Amino acid sequence: MKIVNVVGARPNFMKMAPLIEEMAKHPKKISQVLVHTGQHYDNNMSDQFFKDLELPEPDIFLGIGSGSHAEQVAKVMVKFEEVLIKERPDIVLVVGDVNSTIACSLVAAKLQIKIAHVEAGLRSFDRRMPEEINRIVTDALSDYLFVTEADAIENLLKEGKERNKIFFVGNVMIDTLMRNMARINSSLILQRLDLIAREYVLVTLHRPENVDSVEKIKDLVSFLNQTAKLIKIVFPIHPRTKKRIVDFCLELDSRITLTEPLGYLDFVKLTKEARLVLTDSGGIQEETTMLKVPCLTLRNNTERPVTIKKGSNVLVGTQIGQIMRAVRVALEKSPVEYEQPDLWDGCSSQRIVKILLSENV
Ligand code: UD1
Repeated sequence: MKIVNVVGARPNFMKMAPLIEEMAKHPKKISQVLVHTGQHYDNNMSDQFFKDLELPEPDIFLGIGSGSHAEQVAKVMVKFEEVLIKERPDIVLVVGDVNSTIACSLVAAKLQIKIAHVEAGLRSFDRRMPEEINRIVTDALSDYLFVTEADAIENLLKEGKERNKIFFVGNVMIDTLMRNMARINSSLILQRLDLIAREYVLVTLHRPENVDSVEKIKDLVSFLNQTAKLIKIVFPIHPRTKKRIVDFCLELDSRITLTEPLGYLDFVKLTKEARLVLTDSGGIQEETTMLKVPCLTLRNNTERPVTIKKGSNVLVGTQIGQIMRAVRVALEKSPVEYEQPDLWDGCSSQRIVKILLSENV
């Protein structure tokens, strides 16, 4: 069985790593080709993750880079079509919900190559998010729908997907988290940034709806500056957010520790030891649930409801007053025990590979 594995942007790398490792355990049955679209290309958005996650060098690099959505998707499609015509795999495996995911799925579907989507069925029901469009279209085209949580099964069934294509396998990102725990624990990032465990808040913000409008990001910067008076803040800043702060001439309080985007091991270590995490990311809601670290998500919805039902995640919207109140409550609260979502047990990639080898959907 020949499988083309696709990665493109930062949140893909930690999902793909355990799948590649697992497929490599079956060299007689699976031949794999790793394609990196190059949607993310900076050292700290891409190369560092290959090092941290011990990912093999991509077999094929498409070098797409940044651009508008149409531009990015179109460029990936043209180049990926050449790859598939040459490689003729049995399956294209895509993860997550980034532009590379939808682009490669479209190409595979048109060439009648089966698609396996890992992290299928998540829905925020908010089509203003580009990722929601990417999820809906990718799932519509996929033959294997690998889901991380029970709500995703319901979402797919409501959209008319056949039950025999849906597989509840757990969360591959948690496989990566568990496999790397010893290396995460030995990261020296706290010493490097002069931080004490549980005495800082970790912040990440990069969603267009939070950072692209001048009013929103101005409010968020003023909120961070106020919070910095209460507790130390560490803010590894995404290139999009950095650009907006510079373009809009905004100033962050000097007490906020700003860093470049961090590698996987350092970032998870910072998450694990934080008193509280403030984020608008998808994956971080899951990692904080697993690490049992309180998380406030600065959005009005989440496609990952299990992190609220079982985990440490609270949706706090994007109104500054509301977020500020939630931060104060969270900082005063004593630690709570959270549940671990079903099948987030480190064995998801094993389940996926077993299904790919045995099920013919
Ligand atoms: C993408 C994903 C998002 C994911 C995020 C993680 C889509 C639609 N969105 O958003 O789901 O949460 O990745 O980071 O695919 N840039 C650099 N260096 C890089 C990459 C990007 O400087 O290596 C800058 C460029 O100015 C670029 C901007 O960041 O225009 C945005 O990058 P892009 O890939 O378009 O989307 P993200 O916001 O990163």
